[in-house]
Amino acid sequence: MTATPTMSATQTMSTTKETFSPAYARRRARDLSEPVPQRPVAVRLRGVEKSFRALSVLRGIDLDIPSGQFVAIVGRSGCGKSTLLRLLAGLEAPSAGHIGIGHVEGAFSENDTFSGNDTFNGDAAFGGRGTNTAAGTTGKNRAPNEHVRLMFQEPRLLPWARVARNVEVGLTRAEHRRARRHLAREALLRVGLAERADDWPAVLSGGQKQRVALARALVSRPWLLALDEPLGALDALTRIGMQELIETVWRAQRFTAVLVTHDVTEAVTLADRMLVLEDGRITADLAVDLPRPRRKGDPDLARIEGRVLDHLLLRHRLTEGST
Ligand SMILES: Nc1ncnc2c1ncn2[C@@H]1O[C@H](COP(=O)(O)OP(=O)(O)O)[C@@H](O)[C@H]1O
Ligand SMILES: [Mg+2]
Repeated sequence: MTATPTMSATQTMSTTKETFSPAYARRRARDLSEPVPQRPVAVRLRGVEKSFRALSVLRGIDLDIPSGQFVAIVGRSGCGKSTLLRLLAGLEAPSAGHIGIGHVEGAFSENDTFSGNDTFNGDAAFGGRGTNTAAGTTGKNRAPNEHVRLMFQEPRLLPWARVARNVEVGLTRAEHRRARRHLAREALLRVGLAERADDWPAVLSGGQKQRVALARALVSRPWLLALDEPLGALDALTRIGMQELIETVWRAQRFTAVLVTHDVTEAVTLADRMLVLEDGRITADLAVDLPRPRRKGDPDLARIEGRVLDHLLLRHRLTEGST
């Protein structure tokens, strides 16, 4: 499952220096149709805490996510799921602890020590922008991590821009206009909306708008895609179609995915691993080691789903009983 890293971060970053040429556009288009070339992505959280004034939301989160893993996070409303994704995206700084997102040469070993200044945190690994520490940051003026993209329940499209331009918004690099258009159309092709490139968002269905939002999130080839209840507003059938699409693009591009959902069935259908977040802590960490694509109603899926629900409900009853 974990990709073996062969390409150094420096090699990968060098593509940003290229200027536009037809050959470059063709190469970038090819990039979009092939799996990420063994790009090692990893997320590491150590002692991460987040408080808003007196409210302690996340308390001492330690977590490693191997490259290319699909992680689902479930938990009650208000338990800190969106806050965790915002920290991963660099939109907010942790109150304490450290978050690293980036390339690492080789898998972490059990006794791999990790401090704020080792290679995981170095410029070579992150292009200087991939870390997010409590020390030295104020939580204001944060630069979002350019290698992380967030997708939300609402598509958040610009109503005055056509579909293709909405996708281009996801490109942060200063690319030539023709290259941008090309990349946007490739991303739309991937989500099955190539023929809608010149439409206005207003004429699309809810599911199609979410597909545009997915194309916008993926057009820059992020290392990490953070999905915050992205399918919560869709009807059941559209939702299943979107789950399949997300799995298909993830299998093709092999980014690391962190999906927050309140739908435990959705989580076990898509994820390699399920985390339960409660009271600001990870209280369960379960592997979903089942072949893909997964069939709805599969007894093995139901068994894992049952375990997660039992865990959530049992703890809920215990908490209720103690109050
Ligand atoms: N910017 C903020 N300022 C103050 N409180 C916040 C802020 N963001 C989130 N919270 C609080 O943190 C808690 C967790 O919120 P959130 O991460 O959105 O939960 P979830 O996504 O699990 O429903 C909630 O009590 C929420 O009110
Ligand atoms: Mg939320």
